[in-house]
Amino acid sequence: MKLSIPVLIICGLFLPPVFARDLGLPEVPIPENNPQTPAKIALGDKLFHDTKFSSTGEVSCATCHESAKGFTDSPLVTSRGVNNQTGTRNAPTVLNAAFNKTQFWDGRSPSLEDQSQHPFVNPVEMGLVDHQSILETVNGDDNYIAAFKEVFGTNAGDITMDHVTLAIASFERTVVAGDSPWDRWYLPARKMRSTKRPGAVSRFFWSRGVAFPAM
Ligand code: HEC
Repeated sequence: MKLSIPVLIICGLFLPPVFARDLGLPEVPIPENNPQTPAKIALGDKLFHDTKFSSTGEVSCATCHESAKGFTDSPLVTSRGVNNQTGTRNAPTVLNAAFNKTQFWDGRSPSLEDQSQHPFVNPVEMGLVDHQSILETVNGDDNYIAAFKEVFGTNAGDITMDHVTLAIASFERTVVAGDSPWDRWYLPARKMRSTKRPGAVSRFFWSRGVAFPAM
């Protein structure tokens, strides 16, 4: 029997609620040396949005990875950093970067922790000569001193770039999205492919691109 689109839609109305529930993403991978805590995520959020860590005091991570633009700098063709300088690429989204095996368009950075140290000292991004001025700021600002103490137990003068990058990466691991129609089709289908051979009914819907969760 050939099922027409209206018949499929009517059948869909009677499917059990499980078919309509939000499927979400797989668990975000968290490195052992950087467990998530609410205070660390909040600190990373603050660092990500702070323009003090650029040579002009005008550029933060969020300048190019703006939440309102899906954590990108769309529609720029090349990102614009300090003094309106441009590089050679635009900013990929930070959304779901937590799931990337490597970071940057060419995958040259192995982790979010490693990646986050680079934009500060990129001459066309945040333009700092080195990381020293960041450490001077965070080790000399009462709010940052208190926040780093709460998260890492450090005192003024003890905060290092490792602490800074751990916090930023923790924040980035909360920047996830996974409930688009495509996610709702792809994720269960992928799970089914990896766990068992789909049955005839699943294959029928699947081959027609209809979302059909693994049961
Ligand atoms: C001037 C704009 C600009 C600023 C500021 C900036 N970025 Fe980016 N970001 C980029 C560009 C461009 C790339 C891609 C570069 C490449 O692939 O060579 C990128 C790549 C990334 C990636 C990799 C994503 C992926 O899918 O591979 C992450 C994560 C990221 N940036 C986080 C940050 C963080 C954290 C900061 C602040 C410490 C920051 N960025 C500051 C422009 C910027």
